[in-house]
Amino acid sequence: MNPVEKAKEHFGKLIEDQLKRIELIKAEKDWVDYAKLKPIIIGTIGGDGIGPHITAEAQRVLEYLLKDEVDAGKIEFRVIEGLTIEKRSEVMKPVPDDVLEQVKKCHVTLKGPTTTPKKGDPWPNIESANVAIRKELDLFANVRPVRVPDQGIDWMFFRENTEGAYALGPFGVEIGDDLTMDFKVTTKPGSERIIRLAFEYAKKNKRDRITAVTKANVIKTSDGLFLKTFYEIAKEYPDINADDWFIDIMTAKLVDPKRRTQFKVLVLPNLYGDILTDEAAEFQGGVGTAGSANIGKQYAMFEAIHGSAPRMVKEGRAKYADPSSVIKGGAMLLNHIGYPELGKQLEMALDICGQLEKKLVMTGRSTGATSREFCDYIMETMADKDLEKKWQGYQKKALEK
Ligand code: IPM
Ligand code: MG
Repeated sequence: MNPVEKAKEHFGKLIEDQLKRIELIKAEKDWVDYAKLKPIIIGTIGGDGIGPHITAEAQRVLEYLLKDEVDAGKIEFRVIEGLTIEKRSEVMKPVPDDVLEQVKKCHVTLKGPTTTPKKGDPWPNIESANVAIRKELDLFANVRPVRVPDQGIDWMFFRENTEGAYALGPFGVEIGDDLTMDFKVTTKPGSERIIRLAFEYAKKNKRDRITAVTKANVIKTSDGLFLKTFYEIAKEYPDINADDWFIDIMTAKLVDPKRRTQFKVLVLPNLYGDILTDEAAEFQGGVGTAGSANIGKQYAMFEAIHGSAPRMVKEGRAKYADPSSVIKGGAMLLNHIGYPELGKQLEMALDICGQLEKKLVMTGRSTGATSREFCDYIMETMADKDLEKKWQGYQKKALEK
């Protein structure tokens, strides 16, 4: 078949698949009620590189916090092995079937970083494990908080997680040697559900501003639909100020100390969310300190937003890897499954240990603390019955500076 006809056929098939996906979104079941599950099964997935190491530490913190629940049979922990680049390359799948099966048997998972190959790497160019799990479990919302208490930064990002430039990432077309095309997908129901979640969050948490970020002046069709949907939904929330920015100027404004503290809740298509949340995390100490929640109506997965740092492992520095990002994922997990007090406790301890008190500092090398020592520090901090007072005190002092 000539390459143009072949590409047309391919494109036709992609359209049909996406139309089917829309039907699935429309027919999806309502949100799972964790209060009705006994036990709630929490799976931990180590992943690659420093992943198994920092995930095991995060699990230790969660087990400490949830000890009574585990004893009462309300929570069960499971360790899921095999989501490694070696195994994935061997079966040539982003997620091996047996791993996926185990993941689906858990209600929520806490996941370490996994290697994502690109063209030219020593690994086969398989799809990212994160992206595949997000699609497979329909985890449409990537929720990423960034907080820098002493700079007045408190952002909550709602990144669309199953569409945009990611939906068909591995399914672009090559026509001869000179022409390549990728596809970007935005659907109405897909936009509605993420935007609504962001507005509901703002409403529940008394945030009076929500900002959509697109490039609708250039990417007119798909970003245009996202933005139109945003303003339609905004009408249902008259008490929340809704505005929108383009991604280029938004990346600039995040660096402006006067403007950036005014942003509160941000909702954005997949790739812009990917990029902007890395930039945002940098203010808080880098991607190593940022956690991320991948939320769907039936499943949820919590993870670090950084890579697997194979170099640290090669150089024998895995034990100095900062576990904060996965632990932050753990705090979000606690909030999500119905333990907001424990989640808050863990977040306060993370603020104190990582930003406010800093009795131990992680440098990624033997000049700093090990992940184990840092986790012990977090657990000691949480055990303090004046935790909240201490946290407020530090925060006040930091803001006065
Ligand atoms: C993230 C990561 C992933 C993404 C990569 C590893 C595929 O950067 O979670 O932000 O692009 O979504
Ligand atoms: Mg990213």
